[in-house]
Amino acid sequence: MTNTRGQWGSRLGFILAAAGSAVGLGNLWKFPYKAGINGGGAFVIIYIAVLFLVGFSLMIAEIAIGRKTQLNALGAYRAINKNWGFAGAIGILAGFIILSFYAVIGGWVIKYLFDSVSGSLFKINAVDYGGHFGSFISSAGSPLFYQALFMVLTLVIVLGGVSSGIEKASKIMMPALFFMMIVLMIRSVTLPGAIEGVKFLFKPDFGKAFTPKVIVDAMGQVFFSLSLGMGCMITYGSYLPRNTNIPFSGTMILILDSFVALLAGLVILPAVFSFGFEPGAGPGLMFITIPAIFSKMAFGNIFAIIFFLLVLFAALTSSISLLEVCVSYVVDEFKKNRIISSVILSIIIFLLGIPSSLANGAWSDFKILGYNFFDFMDMFASNILLPLGGLLLCIFVGWVWKTKNAVHEIQNEGSLKFSIAPLWSFIIKFISPIIIIVIFLTNFGIIKL
Ligand code: PHE
Repeated sequence: MTNTRGQWGSRLGFILAAAGSAVGLGNLWKFPYKAGINGGGAFVIIYIAVLFLVGFSLMIAEIAIGRKTQLNALGAYRAINKNWGFAGAIGILAGFIILSFYAVIGGWVIKYLFDSVSGSLFKINAVDYGGHFGSFISSAGSPLFYQALFMVLTLVIVLGGVSSGIEKASKIMMPALFFMMIVLMIRSVTLPGAIEGVKFLFKPDFGKAFTPKVIVDAMGQVFFSLSLGMGCMITYGSYLPRNTNIPFSGTMILILDSFVALLAGLVILPAVFSFGFEPGAGPGLMFITIPAIFSKMAFGNIFAIIFFLLVLFAALTSSISLLEVCVSYVVDEFKKNRIISSVILSIIIFLLGIPSSLANGAWSDFKILGYNFFDFMDMFASNILLPLGGLLLCIFVGWVWKTKNAVHEIQNEGSLKFSIAPLWSFIIKFISPIIIIVIFLTNFGIIKL
């Protein structure tokens, strides 16, 4: 059989692309504000616990399914067991939904980048950034324009294909991102009074942390941040050659992702404290507090450009993976042309994102279960679909495909040592599903913690 599917050009290329998928708005926008509203260090501790217990095992499992079957998320499940295509379908649906609202925020980032470059972001009085942001996101036209622009950038990269589009873009954007983050982190932690922000991130306030909502949020955040539970790593794994070291690659992706989340905390929170702002400002942290801080900082205009450029890079290396999950499904399953499929999917996803954008303005009164459309999409995909996808993944690998077959794949059919295989199998079969179920039940109030 001739393989016409794409393939990564190198192991480093795969790691950077997969880490690029993981590192995104989840790390830079969500993590610092979630830590901010959920008790700082306590949230971080729960996050890291779920990350290592559940995240690590699932990451390896997803990559293994992808490499074994060399298929998209749905096709991969079905190739191993013909009744399990639905698990992949849930994932693809999640990807579709996530990209629809992800592009809205991606658009805001482009707008703030443009305004930093033109300097108009600094013509605002520091106290007015909230109003400025509010009036921008609640207007109808402009956010949609930037959302469309973000989708176009995503599409252009995906059109380039796996190795010359996604891999190449990640190889440029990821190192640039690390470099820019380190520059900003050094600036932030050397500001007067910055130490309070560092303390906030590492010193837990347990009173706030052990509430069901915080724990569910931390779990949702792990899935979202690692791009797990929706077949993204299955899809990226399907472009791997047979001889890659999956445990090593998985570990690198996990380390890079957590490193960037903490680094983001260290860029944002010390500056927030140094300038006397509120860490629990919520989603507006990146668009209200941060610009206000840059407006007061020496050379703030340059730091703002670096900041929004790095956020844009992070967002794009993630959005391309979200689009790729959908594209790969349509191309594999329906044998459709990659270019046409990518264009059509991008248009549909853009249209689905419109209500999310309008939820911040004209349609803000439209509520589903008390959430506006944007927050509902985020909550539904991140806190329900992704953990559900993760749960199905554990059951599938643990009990349907069977861990011994999965381990055989992870060990490259015997040529690679995977010394923690028994532990990994135990976590996949028992620990991870139990953690996910308990957190779910707690969230729905069925168990009280
Ligand atoms: N991990 C990405 C982020 O942190 C978002 C994402 C989720 C990407 C799921 C792909 C799949 O921003």
